[in-house]
This record gives sequence, C-alpha cells and structure tokens, in this order.
Amino acid sequence: MKVDVLLGLQWGDEGKGKVVDVLTPSYSVVTRFQGGPNAGHTLEFEGQKYVLRSVPSGIFQGGKVNIIGNGVVLDPALFKAEVEQLEASGHDLTKRLFISRKAHLILPTHRLLDAAYESAKGSGKIGTTGKGIGPTYTDKISRNGLRVGDIEHNFKEKYDAAIARHKEILSHYDFKYDLESIEKDWLAGIEKLKQYQFIDSEHFINKTLAEGNRILAEGAQGTMLDINFGSYPFVTSSDTICAGACTGLGVAPNKIGDVFGIFKAYCTRVGSGPFPTELNDATGEELRKLGHEFGAVTGRPRRCGWVDLVALKYAVMLNGVTKLIMMKSDVLDGFDTIKACVAYKVNGQETQDFPFDITEGVEPIYTEFDGWKTDMTKMTSENEFPEEFNAYIDFIEQYLGVPIHIISIGPDRDQTIVRSQN
Ligand code: GDP
Ligand code: IMO
Ligand code: MG
Repeated sequence: MKVDVLLGLQWGDEGKGKVVDVLTPSYSVVTRFQGGPNAGHTLEFEGQKYVLRSVPSGIFQGGKVNIIGNGVVLDPALFKAEVEQLEASGHDLTKRLFISRKAHLILPTHRLLDAAYESAKGSGKIGTTGKGIGPTYTDKISRNGLRVGDIEHNFKEKYDAAIARHKEILSHYDFKYDLESIEKDWLAGIEKLKQYQFIDSEHFINKTLAEGNRILAEGAQGTMLDINFGSYPFVTSSDTICAGACTGLGVAPNKIGDVFGIFKAYCTRVGSGPFPTELNDATGEELRKLGHEFGAVTGRPRRCGWVDLVALKYAVMLNGVTKLIMMKSDVLDGFDTIKACVAYKVNGQETQDFPFDITEGVEPIYTEFDGWKTDMTKMTSENEFPEEFNAYIDFIEQYLGVPIHIISIGPDRDQTIVRSQN
C-alpha cells in the first residue's frame, strides 16, 4: 500500500483540515509530515468547530491512529493546550496519537528568537505566526536542535545548553523578554507530552504499509510558502511540497500514491510577501467578508484575490498532483462575474511559467466568467451544478490538466461533493 498526500497549492488555509477529516474513513493512519503550530486547520461537524494546530485532522473519525511525523516541529506548551481542549470535549488521544522521536522541539527561546528576528527586520518583516518555526528549523539544519527522543536521554543537560546558546544570540538584539513565565508552561508541556507514546515513526509507517494499510499524509501551509519554491523569503521554513512527505515521514518516493492538491476557488494569503492577484478594493473586501477570511489561529485578516492559475499550475507541477480539490466555491455564489488569472505579463512579456521573482512588475492577465448566482450550499450531487459553475471548473481542469475530484460548498463535513467520474 501507499501513502496518499493531501497538501495546499496556494499560500495556506485552503481547507486542508476539513478535507482530511472527510477522507479519513478510507485510511488506517493519518499523519502530519512538516510544519508545526503555525498551522491552524479548521473542522466543522455536528454543529461543533475545532481548530487543530499540531494534532493531525484524522482524530475525529473513529479510532484511527494519528502520527506527528519526524518532519514536524512541536511546541510542548501549545501541544498541551491543544490536547487539553480536545480532552475537555471528550476526545482522549493518548492511545491513538503517536509522536515521532525525531520530531524537533520548539523551545521557549525559539519563540523569542522568532520575535527578535522579526522586529529587527522592521518593515521587511516576514509576518510570521510568531511560533518559533524559523529558528527551530534553523537549529535542526545547523545540527543544534533538540528532538522529542531527547526527552528520554539527558534532557536537562541538552535543554540548558540550548537555552544558554539562545540567550547569547538574544543578547545581540535590542529585545526584552521574560523567559521564566513561558518556560514554566513549556516544562509543564513536556510532562504532558510524556503521556503520549514516542515512536520510531519511519518504521511504524513502513510496517503499516507493508501490512496492507492505507496512510493519508496531511500537509500544513501551502506550496507557495515552501522553503525552496515559494515566494522566498516570504515563506515558511519547511518543505511543504509532496517531496516533504518523503523526508518528513521516512517513506520512499515510490511509496507515494495519490497526491490531492487543494485550492480555494479564489485565493488568500496571510503575512507579508507578493500576491499577484490580490484585490485591494471592494471585491477583495467582499471575498474576506463572505469567506470569513481571518486567521484560524492569529485572527489576522487574510489578504484576498482571484484564483491564480499560473501559480496553481506551478504547484501542480511541483507536487505531481493527481486529483484536485476545490474549496469554498460557495463564497463566489453571489458574484456577477468571476475572474481567473491565466497568465502574467512580466516586463512586457506574457508567460504562463511562474517566474523567479514575483515581487514587482508582474501584471496578472485575467479571463472573465459569468457568475452562477445560485446558492450551492445545500446541493448534494454534481448533477445540480449550474451551467456557469461547470464552465468555471471545466476551464480550471483544462488549464491545469488534472481532474477536480472534490468540490467543497461550505465549511461543514457534509457540504462536500465527491465527483463520480474524477
Ligand atoms: P487549513 O489551514 O488549510 O486547514 O484551512 P483553515 O482552516 O485555516 O481555513 C479554511 C477556512 O474555511 C475554515 O474556516 C473552514 O471552516 C472554512 N471552509 C472550509 N471549506 C469551506 C467551504 O467549502 N466553504 C466555506 N464557506 N468555508 C469553508
Ligand atoms: P495552515 O496550515 C497561512 C505564513 C505566515 C508567514 C509565513 C512564515 O493553516 O495553512 P512562519 O510562522 O511559518 O515562520 O510564518 O508563513 N504561514 C501561514 N499562512 N496558513 C498557514 O498554515 C501558515 N503557516 C505559516 O503568515 O507569512
Ligand atoms: Mg489554516
């Protein structure tokens, strides 16, 4: 059996959490492979809403095993808060949530370093989520990190050495902090973490496949925030693309099955950085209002614009997407006309190839579609789709060369239409 991968094709918040939850019944194991509590994955069902940050989105469908993989960075304090909230709503995960020993720990000082680096950048700041993601991955790559497995071996010594090193770095910044208060929470988080089973997840995952079970890997962030291919430097610090599932779980490339590429029927971005189809006008406001486009974790307003097929085509190529999933089409239900960016004009030249730098001088070229002006939120079958909606999705499929397998028409688990031919 293989690992199917579900990942975002835009700048995050595409609706990954919702769809992982919907797909989970077909899998034995759901696992996260990169990112950390910078993620906010929202799920809605039976009138309840949950936002998950480090815990995989497969936990609400029966007793499936969920794994936090080796490519993830984990903050014990935030993990504690997250699982305690789940426990309070009747979801005890200790028997079915496993954590890779090789996942790296976000230390309290990583969060401080994130804040210090951002403030030193001034107007050039990335607009990070402030969760210490960049500094933790920096320590991993520079071979200074602490891993979950270290909790079992001489932890205090390694922790003290790392904190001392971080304090020294912080002393070079004009940045005031109070480590004691956050350290207390963090150490309580370590005690909570110890209630969970630490595993050598690469062995567990490969054995699970060899025994004939299916695994779903849940991406965090999105392709355009990828450290290699995203809008650098305005990106996150991990491999958000499909290849990240290989390194973040320890599965070989030939063990990857379907790649579900998920995108909104329009586009959003949080934080700084270029966004060619951004709408700084009443239409952008309308998208934000109708789509409730405010960060699931930070509450920051998300920047909104039309769908960018040039960027999506690039993302489809990088990930080897086999099935597309289009989210939030209901947000466009009332629009008279809808636009899709089909090319960029860069220095007077038209191109469909995503360029090296999109910071300046990129003019989006749009194709315009008639709106469907129909409330689609209660539809149950693709046979009910209006003609204009079909024209929109047919165009996207043709442009990207990949079928749209699922259409999401509302935030609830039930507002999901799986297309029979795709
Ligand atoms: P993720 O980070 O990719 O999991 O996405 P987020 O949870 O950050 O953002 C997606 C938001 O859209 C959440 O508030 C979801 O509840 C909501 N959502 C998901 N699918 C749909 C949909 O089809 N229609 C509408 N209106 N909202 C949706
Ligand atoms: P989900 O999984 C949207 C963005 C931040 C910032 C940049 C770097 O919910 O889709 P970081 O804290 O990672 O160093 O911030 O990446 N970012 C996200 N944007 N959704 C996310 O996650 C994001 N995670 C990080 O806003 O621009
Ligand atoms: Mg999100």
